[in-house]
Amino acid sequence: MSTLVVLGTQWGDEGKGKVVHYLSRQADYIVRYQGGNNAGHTLIFEDKPFVLHLVPSGVLFPEKYCLITNGVVIDLESLKEEVDALTKKKVVVKNRLFVSEQAHIILPYHKIIDGILEDWNVKIGTTKKGIGPAYADKVKRIGIRAVDYLEKDVFEDLIEKNLIEKAAILKGKIDIEILKKRIFEDYNKLSEFLRPFVANTSFMLEEAMKENKKILFESAQGTLLDLDFGTYPFVTSSNPIAGGVCSGAGIGPTKINGVLGVVKAYTTRVGEGPFAVELFDEVGDFLRKKGEEYGATTGRPRRCGWFDSVVVRHSVRVNDIRNLILTKLDCMEDLDKIKICVAYKYKNKIYKEFPASRTIQNYAEPVYEEMPGFQGKVKGVMSFENLPVNAQRYIKRLEELVGASIDLVSLGRRREEIIEVNKNVSWF
Ligand code: IMP
Repeated sequence: MSTLVVLGTQWGDEGKGKVVHYLSRQADYIVRYQGGNNAGHTLIFEDKPFVLHLVPSGVLFPEKYCLITNGVVIDLESLKEEVDALTKKKVVVKNRLFVSEQAHIILPYHKIIDGILEDWNVKIGTTKKGIGPAYADKVKRIGIRAVDYLEKDVFEDLIEKNLIEKAAILKGKIDIEILKKRIFEDYNKLSEFLRPFVANTSFMLEEAMKENKKILFESAQGTLLDLDFGTYPFVTSSNPIAGGVCSGAGIGPTKINGVLGVVKAYTTRVGEGPFAVELFDEVGDFLRKKGEEYGATTGRPRRCGWFDSVVVRHSVRVNDIRNLILTKLDCMEDLDKIKICVAYKYKNKIYKEFPASRTIQNYAEPVYEEMPGFQGKVKGVMSFENLPVNAQRYIKRLEELVGASIDLVSLGRRREEIIEVNKNVSWF
């Protein structure tokens, strides 16, 4: 048995899609264990960008199994669209894609409530895909799982009860009877679509492990969006951290063999919330443009900033990351000087550990260290030794600051544009 978790160490959008695509060649199973269609993994398929929201990136390799496990929330319309798009591109998903019977379903009212809560409560800047409200129902024990969805009587009974519970919040936004009619009208089409994919994925994983298969778990979002360890409340409603694999896929902690953190050479975030290293100047604009930093799911421009080692050190610790892949180093190529945040300063106190306090997260000043720009081309370089010396120094300094080794460096969107810094690491 060999398992590897690939996860984001910042606020998501670190380039996990490409990394998972790169490593999927070596894996037998690729597993999504949390989140929903709020995520967007951009891959290059037949020379064009191709975005996957729910289906694991390994689907593009015909012989791999792809699992969406119990920790994920599923918008059936969105899953169907994705499966249809893959089928159109001649990617066969039948008998390769499986959805946990215990995964919770996102229903149309979850999406409406997501929008309402954004206007009422603290504005989080969610993707408005109904993620938070669907997870909230799961925690309230009124959620509808895939297995419930497929039992028509159970489903109808749960919808009736749920709509009574939701009536107050939906009042004035949508007529409950119309909403109910729409849900029941969609039912036949969507349940028929879902049925062949539903399986006991936790058991499938157990069997796969017994057969010594290689399993790759891919997170959506990043550690700073984790419900417990992120910038709460400006987080998503699940646990992208490595620990989330156990509860989100139904495997024991001793079954996790390795954790690979994906880290962008600078920092970005979408949505609201604290972001100490955010740049409002031309460097921020430069990174956004060069890095094409626009949300894969919502198209929103991403906020950009320098590398924040306080954030990544926190991620390294909570996920027990030993190995990192650094992405998008090529996007920093033409900068004259580069800054790295090494600590936060608030009221004359220095913080080296990521603070939980909202006040400190909001008002801390980044303490920067400055380095010269790379002075040379990075794009197209195929080995660490051929990188400009200043780029090599940057990588080594990041390793020192975050406490994990950077074993891979990604210099472009294509799968081949990866440097193996440490050729001795075997991922499975
Ligand atoms: P939600 O997951 O839609 O509830 O959104 C909560 C927060 O997570 C918002 O700040 C979103 O912008 C952010 N978020 C959710 N999914 C992603 C992602 O895949 N990449 C980056 N940010 C995300």
